[in-house]
Amino acid sequence: MQFRIEHFSEVDSTNDVAKRLAIEGAPEGTVVISEIQKKGRGRKGREWFSPKGGVWMSIILRPKMSPSQAAPLTLIAGLAVAKTLSELYNLKCKLKWPNDVLINEKKVCGVLTEISAGIDRIDYIVAGIGINANIDIDSFPGEFRGVATTIKNELNKEILRDELVEQLLEEFEKLYKIFQKQGFSKLKEEWKKSASTIGRKVRIITDRRTIEGIARDLGENGELFVETQEGIEKIISGDCIHL
Ligand code: BTN
Repeated sequence: MQFRIEHFSEVDSTNDVAKRLAIEGAPEGTVVISEIQKKGRGRKGREWFSPKGGVWMSIILRPKMSPSQAAPLTLIAGLAVAKTLSELYNLKCKLKWPNDVLINEKKVCGVLTEISAGIDRIDYIVAGIGINANIDIDSFPGEFRGVATTIKNELNKEILRDELVEQLLEEFEKLYKIFQKQGFSKLKEEWKKSASTIGRKVRIITDRRTIEGIARDLGENGELFVETQEGIEKIISGDCIHL
C-alpha cells in the first residue's frame, strides 16, 4: 500500500477530514494526521480528548470485500498499535474488545472505524486511531484521569511521534494484507493472545440491551461470545465494561 500522509496542525476530527477526502476520491492509504483535534470523536458520540502531543490519525481503506466482512478492521488496528508499542518501547499492551488498547488496565489508545458502503460493496472505510503519546496525564479532564494513560506517563519520557506513526503504518499494512488474503482467523488467534477481555466477567451494553457474563471467545468476524446464565450470546457491537 502506498501511504500518503496529509498533515494538519488543527482540525475538528481527522476522521471527518478523511471521510471528506475519501468522498472526493482519495486513494486507499491516504492518512490524515493532525496535531490537535478540536472535536475529536470517540465511539457512541463521546468526546475524545485530543490535545497537542497525541497521535490523532485516520487511514482511508478501500478493501474489496463485503461490508459484513470488514468488522475485524477495528480489532486489527488495535492489534497493530499494541504490537508497535511493544516493539518500539517494550510496553506490554492488552486489548479490550472491541477497540481499546490498555496498559495496566488503563486506556492508551482507542479506534473509531467508520464505513460507507452499499449492500455488497465497500466504498471506503476510515480507521481512526487515537494514541495518547506525549501527553501529561495530569492534563486529562477529571473523568478520564483514572481510566486513561499515556506513553509519556508510562515511560517517563517523550517519544518520537514520527517514528511511532511510521512503525504503526508498517505494522498495520502487514496485518491488513494478511486479513485481505486469509481473512481474520489467523489474526483472531493473535488478537486473543493479547486480549484482556477473554475470560473476564463483562457487562455489554448494546443499542437494545445490557447483558452480563463471561467473555469466552472471539468469532470469525470479530464478534464477542459471552456466556450468560441463558447461554452463549454472540455480540456484534456494543460497549464492553470489564467487571
Ligand atoms: C474510542 O475509544 O472511543 C475511539 C477513539 C478514537 C479517537 C480517534 S483520534 C483520530 C480519529 N479522529 C477522531 O475524531 N476520532 C479518532
